Parts: sequence; structure tokens; C-alpha cells
Amino acid sequence: MSKEKTIIAYETKSGVTGESADIIASVLRDKCGFDVDVVNLKKKPKPDFSQYRNIFIGSGIRMGRWYGKAKKLLKGDFEGKNVVIFVSACSAGDPKTHDEAVNKYLDDVLTKHPNLKPVATAAFGGRMKVLGKVQADTCDPDKVRAWAAEVGAKLGE
Ligand SMILES: Cc1cc2nc3c(=O)[nH]c(=O)nc-3n(C[C@H](O)[C@H](O)[C@H](O)COP(=O)(O)O)c2cc1C
Repeated sequence: MSKEKTIIAYETKSGVTGESADIIASVLRDKCGFDVDVVNLKKKPKPDFSQYRNIFIGSGIRMGRWYGKAKKLLKGDFEGKNVVIFVSACSAGDPKTHDEAVNKYLDDVLTKHPNLKPVATAAFGGRMKVLGKVQADTCDPDKVRAWAAEVGAKLGE
């Protein structure tokens, strides 16, 4: 299992977490030379993590909660692997509510999974549509790109 072998498993409903997964994958491939697979948990809810050293888990947030399939993965045994967590939530992309989002959607959730010691976490912005019209968009792909480069450098050490 090489240190470059990476999987990004994500669950999305409005698309943003999938977009971030693709951005992270591109950065890790192009900038860091990693071998990356991206898995949509709706299509494959129980990916086989055995061949991967680095496991990214991404979820959107609705009604203050992680999506179910992504949340289930947090119960897994990741002994000997590098786990990285990211979420997408409209409040996380607003500087006024970012820290609160980190507390609620990352810190509080991870407290319930003490065995999971992620090497990196991030709460990115989200996009909310009502009847097809964008009502809020706090996404910042550049932030995702910069974070992915940082994490890639850390994982490659
Ligand atoms: C029904 C609904 C509930 C939402 N609840 C929250 C919330 O509790 N906190 C928040 O920050 N954003 C909330 N949002 C915004 C989502 O976080 C945003 O749509 C994000 O892009 C979801 O990730 P996804 O695009 O990967 O599904 C909500 C959006 C919808 C449609």
C-alpha cells in the first residue's frame, strides 16, 4: 500500500460535496502525484478501504446533520490509515458562522468517534437551491484547492 493510494468517499444531495471531492482529487493527482479514486456513496455505500492508505470522507450537511451513508463510515476501523474529513454547509462558508459550523459539524461529531483521529478536517461552504433557484451560495473552490494542496503535502511527507 503506497502512501499515494487515496480514496475520496463522499455523499452529496445538492452536489457541492461531489464538486469538492473532484477538486481534491485533481489537486492530489496533479500536484502531488497521488493515485486517487473518487466514490459516490449513493452508488457504492460500502467501499472497500483495504487497498488505500489515505481515506477522505466527505458529507453535506442538512438540518444540522451529516448525511447517513457518510456518517456510517465514521464507525469504521481505520487503524494504520490516514483519515481526512470534510463537510459542506452553507454556514461554514460564511466567516460569521464558520467557527460555529466547525464546532457542530466536525468537533461534536468527531467527539463521538474517539478512535478516529483525522490528520486533517475542513468545513467548506455550500449551496442552497429552492425550486431550482440558488438562494445561498457560500462555496469557495479556491479554498478547497488550497486545503487539498496542504493536506496532500502532509500526506506525502
Ligand atoms: C433542507 C436543507 C437543510 C439545510 N440545513 C443546513 C444546516 O443545518 N446548516 C447549514 O450550514 N446548511 C444547511 N443547508 C445548506 C447545505 O449545507 C448545502 O446545501 C450544502 O451544499 C449541502 O451539501 P451538498 O451540496 O453536498 O448536498 C441546508 C440545505 C437544505 C436544502
